[in-house]
Amino acid sequence: MAVGILLVGGFGTRLMPLTRHTPKPMLPVAGLPVTQHQLAMARNAGITTVVLATSYLSEVFIPYFGDGSKFGMKLLYAVEKEPLGTGGAIRNAADLLGRDESIVIFNGDVLSSHNLRGQIDFHDKNSADVTLHLTQVDDARAYGCVPMDSNGRVTAFLEKMENPPTNTINAGCYVFSPSVIDEIAPNTVVSIERETFPHLVSSGKKVFGYLDQSYWLDIGTPKALMQGSRDLVSGVADALALRDAKVLSHSPQSVVMDGAKIDTSATISGASAIGPGSIIGAGVHIDGSIIGSDVVIGEGATITDSFIASGTHIEKNSQISGSYCEKGEISLLNL
Ligand code: GTP
Repeated sequence: MAVGILLVGGFGTRLMPLTRHTPKPMLPVAGLPVTQHQLAMARNAGITTVVLATSYLSEVFIPYFGDGSKFGMKLLYAVEKEPLGTGGAIRNAADLLGRDESIVIFNGDVLSSHNLRGQIDFHDKNSADVTLHLTQVDDARAYGCVPMDSNGRVTAFLEKMENPPTNTINAGCYVFSPSVIDEIAPNTVVSIERETFPHLVSSGKKVFGYLDQSYWLDIGTPKALMQGSRDLVSGVADALALRDAKVLSHSPQSVVMDGAKIDTSATISGASAIGPGSIIGAGVHIDGSIIGSDVVIGEGATITDSFIASGTHIEKNSQISGSYCEKGEISLLNL
């Protein structure tokens, strides 16, 4: 069996202003925080102990997830006073875990339906030091790419470039053999992608790639976050977490969470998500949008391709499109 570390401490600058008061992994997609979808995926693969490696806005995770028992898991928290980077965060969080099981690391901003159990089995079969989930994209120029040999062994980690030699990229989920964790320096800012992985490859460690082309999305920008939510609602992506959550209704057009009240004359379409406790007034039209929890939308309003932060009140007859709304503020999103 394996245990997990979820990296949830980044600033999420590309998602500003959505991340001003809410860390990226706590933003709602399909009615639940991104992290909750990831935990459901981990549990489905048999991982029931996970450390949340937090830093930015660390205080919001414990009140929601607690000790994990309501999700059928054991959750632990490693808090970095100053962000330690992805590698430093892993090393720090691993101090809460033993060294007798493989450790699966998850970037906290990825929605993935890949076969995680298959990745762990592939790691074991190869007696690998590290096994990364890799996926292929049409255009790898925006990413660093990860070439492999014919046995699936990673040969290099290449930075972003104009002519990448392969379109295979790091998908942000890694299985580590426990001893390899201690190759990362403690209490030091380290990037796993730019420092640890290239070092492991050049020093001859067995680093393998597990290529799986299932649904995968990095939700690091507003456009991608909105897409990820729609994909979970419409069924394009696996929404395992919704199976166990308190859901009032769910169809490919919408998911409505427990305690929300929707006027019978309101229409909700385009794989929109309505958070718990939100009140949607008469004649409201919502399309392709994310509505947080305890939002009130006044009668006659139209909300299209927008993200309404939790606790926001929208005036009646408002017309909002392609925007982020939080309390009194509204800003256009780059969709
Ligand atoms: P941007 O600022 O928009 O690039 O987002 P980010 O801060 O989340 O950085 P990035 O997307 O590169 O991070 C990948 C994952 O690692 C995310 O889940 C982050 O939350 C997490 N992460 C990044 N840096 C740190 C860190 O210093 N500590 C911890 N605990 N997690 C981190």
